Amino acid sequence: MPMHVVLVSGGIGSLGKEYDEKGVENVTVKSTVFTGTENGLRIKTWGRPSGGFAKGVVFEHALMQNVRNPIIIDQNYCPEERGCPDQNSGIKISQMTYGDIQGSSTSLVVVNFDCSAINPCSGLGLQDIKLTYGNGPAESSCDDGTAFGLVEPPSRLV
Ligand SMILES: *[C@@H]1O[C@H](CO)[C@@H](O)[C@H](O)[C@H]1NC(C)=O
Repeated sequence: MPMHVVLVSGGIGSLGKEYDEKGVENVTVKSTVFTGTENGLRIKTWGRPSGGFAKGVVFEHALMQNVRNPIIIDQNYCPEERGCPDQNSGIKISQMTYGDIQGSSTSLVVVNFDCSAINPCSGLGLQDIKLTYGNGPAESSCDDGTAFGLVEPPSRLV
């Protein structure tokens, strides 16, 4: 089964540059440590039409040390704003599970789910997320998903 999978520092992407991409499914990324990186656990897709998908991805036991975006789904990737005609990713993201993700962030938003407007993420699960930003509360930014278990900070999920 052809797959376009690139694992870089716990990330999956960039998906959806081509329309006829196959999907990515059943990937487990576990026991990762990120130190001073821009991104931690990231799924990135181009903001353009595609028939691809990413589902059944499990991220577990990750330690973040001063990471800017510890948990991020970015479905609006469009470098230099070129070649992304409608800015909406056709990649369907579903059944993503994040478990036991701990450590420190260098930005306020530690969980950022920026999903496709035309193809919203579904089945995003967060469990045992303990991420801090300085001495204050961290935040999450989610436009879809379902939270379960202990989540710190509490997610705003719709
Ligand atoms: C992915 O996992 C699901 C559930 O276990 C299974 O039904 C499906 O066949 C798996 N897909 C692949 C490509 O192995």
